Amino acid sequence: MKPDPIPSSEITPKDLYLSRREFLKTLGLLAGGAVLAACAPKLAETQSAATAAPRPATASPRPAVTPFSRATADELGDPLNSYKDITNYNNYYEFTTDKQGVAVLARDFPTSPWDVQVHGLVHRPRTFSVDELIRKFQPEERVYRLRCVEAWSMVIPWLGFPLRKLLKEVEPAGSARYVRFEAVYQPEKMPGQKVPFYPWPYQEGLRLDEAMHDLTILATGLYGGELPPQNGGGIRLVVPWKYGFKSIKAIIKIELTAEQPATLWSTVAPDEYGFYANVNPRVDHPRWSQRTERRIGEFGRRDTLMFNGYAEQVAQLYNGMDLRLYY
Ligand code: MTE
Repeated sequence: MKPDPIPSSEITPKDLYLSRREFLKTLGLLAGGAVLAACAPKLAETQSAATAAPRPATASPRPAVTPFSRATADELGDPLNSYKDITNYNNYYEFTTDKQGVAVLARDFPTSPWDVQVHGLVHRPRTFSVDELIRKFQPEERVYRLRCVEAWSMVIPWLGFPLRKLLKEVEPAGSARYVRFEAVYQPEKMPGQKVPFYPWPYQEGLRLDEAMHDLTILATGLYGGELPPQNGGGIRLVVPWKYGFKSIKAIIKIELTAEQPATLWSTVAPDEYGFYANVNPRVDHPRWSQRTERRIGEFGRRDTLMFNGYAEQVAQLYNGMDLRLYY
């Protein structure tokens, strides 16, 4: 069992990629899709109707599209989710807690130009534009399973590059042990950020060795094209063996630190969302089982795999740790 990212020799040619970026700008985002029972974090349930972001009554219908990916399935043979599913069923609390309302609310959110500041315990702190990162690191297609802590999942063909490449560029200091990620804060454009309950901006963190692992990528696109706003454009993290909330969207700051950083979810509900959050079917969430999951677009449920099916690649990162304690 091995992930099978397409080798860099087969990356989408740049001209094709750029023309697809233009093409995808014209793509429609159809409202609808599978309706699942939300087992959203309990704190979200306290959001009142008065503060909830309004959901437009209708999304304008646009033509159906045929998104491009070289792959049709992941390395386990699971078929890709459709572009429509991936871009219309989202968790993005900066906009709304309504998964099927994100695409419409985020439609005009500007994702380009986009800058990321990389700083903290590094020898060469710098701010990079996403365009520069794309030119420098030549995103490749990585087909990963995304397993949300809420027990739904998808198979997504990302375009991205290993975070490790960017970290090497800024030369981490010997004292760096963790990486902290901070998302954009723009309450005038992100209605969910007017909900004072959450300690905005969204922030996440990884241990440095997790951040340097080859499976950990910064995604700048999906399905051969640009990264739509609802999926975290301008740039997002993807850590496929951890619950989806670790894969922070719309990153503007990456900071190397000596101490384990605070994260949004472990701040608001430390008993429910730990720092490590490795996918583990043997450790239940306090309010629901993690043994099975619902793949969006499928009927019935499938077994959840240890480390989301990436155990062979990542289990050694946690040697000697009690995985029940590090939920
Ligand atoms: N990043 C930000 N900034 N805000 C969010 O609300 N939600 C997380 C994660 N990253 C979230 C975020 C959760 S809970 C999940 S499951 C994934 O994004 C969903 O990613 P997707 O909408 O692209 O499938």
